[in-house]
Amino acid sequence: MPSCTSLLFILCSVLNSALCCDWLRNYGHLNNNSQTLIKHMGGPLTEEESPVPFPYRLYELTEKAEMQSQLVFIRYSLEMISGLYRHDNLSIATWDTIKTEHFLMSIDRQIEELNHCVSTKMQPDSRLRRYYRRLAMTLHHTGGSAASWELIRKETEHHLIQLEMLVASIRRRSITTTRQH
Ligand SMILES: *[C@@H]1O[C@H](CO)[C@@H](O)[C@H](O)[C@H]1NC(C)=O
Ligand SMILES: *[C@@H]1O[C@H](CO)[C@@H](O)[C@H](O)[C@H]1NC(C)=O
Repeated sequence: MPSCTSLLFILCSVLNSALCCDWLRNYGHLNNNSQTLIKHMGGPLTEEESPVPFPYRLYELTEKAEMQSQLVFIRYSLEMISGLYRHDNLSIATWDTIKTEHFLMSIDRQIEELNHCVSTKMQPDSRLRRYYRRLAMTLHHTGGSAASWELIRKETEHHLIQLEMLVASIRRRSITTTRQH
């Protein structure tokens, strides 16, 4: 069983040089941090259903896509998530302000790392853009009510988990490629 570091080393040596190893190396830690903070910055996650259906299909399609598109998908999702919380009425949510601040910093840190790997000019599928526009509208319609913030928080947590699975599939694919060489 090779160690994690050597696996990462192999992985990084096969990946397109544009894909900086730093991002993959830090991803597990950064995403774990983001997930922990989003869970603990408020009370239990709401059981309410979001009026905007979760874009599972887009995740499925992205899992099969080229790595560049996958990275653009991940970065765009994180940017949109970060953007949702830059809102005048965030304080209505009554979350722990320090944890919320740290959560946003952890997301921005992930975006920053990804910006080293993929051109900032690349745009994702328009369906993903539409999804996040609709999600932002749920906040807009209520002026940022506490309930709509809880929905956003729950959806965010779900995205972080799905993004983690997507990254796991990128890793698996890269390792398979290595073995075939
Ligand atoms: C983050 O990492 C810690 C320590 O490895 C682990 O106990 C915890 O379950 C992880 N949290 C998430 C959300 O993956
Ligand atoms: C914030 O809340 C106030 C009062 O409910 C509302 O008038 C305003 O439009 C909200 N701001 C945003 C950006 O939704």
